[in-house]
Amino acid sequence: MTADPLVLAAAAAREKAFAPYSGFRVGAALEAADGTVVSGCNVESASYGLTCCAERVALFKGVSDGHTRFVRVAVVADTPKLTPPCGACRQLLWEFAPDAGVTLANLAGGVAHYRMADLLPHGFDAANLS
Ligand code: THU
Repeated sequence: MTADPLVLAAAAAREKAFAPYSGFRVGAALEAADGTVVSGCNVESASYGLTCCAERVALFKGVSDGHTRFVRVAVVADTPKLTPPCGACRQLLWEFAPDAGVTLANLAGGVAHYRMADLLPHGFDAANLS
């Protein structure tokens, strides 16, 4: 596992994942513009469709704490193929972290770096509403 503190925060959050239905445990961490780190895990529901991804849990925690700009995102799962944010999470992250670097990591030391603009090209946002 990398020594990147944001990845470590995501890995720690993953330990709290509530994923009894899929068994797929994910942690995410966001670094706000002021350096604050917020993290989250996936939270599943017996009504499967109500499940919320780790990225959105972290994002909503951060925004509800007053952070509306994030400069980095980390996502950690225990999969050989690194786990990227799903489409819904990309759209929500785009709103608050359009310039962010995104680090994907697994527990075996695998790591990859992307930018939000690469993960969501031509994203829909407030500029499209005007
Ligand atoms: N999940 C996340 O939390 N983040 C991702 O990036 C991909 C998927 C969760 C949702 C669900 O609890 C489980 O992983 C399987 O899809």
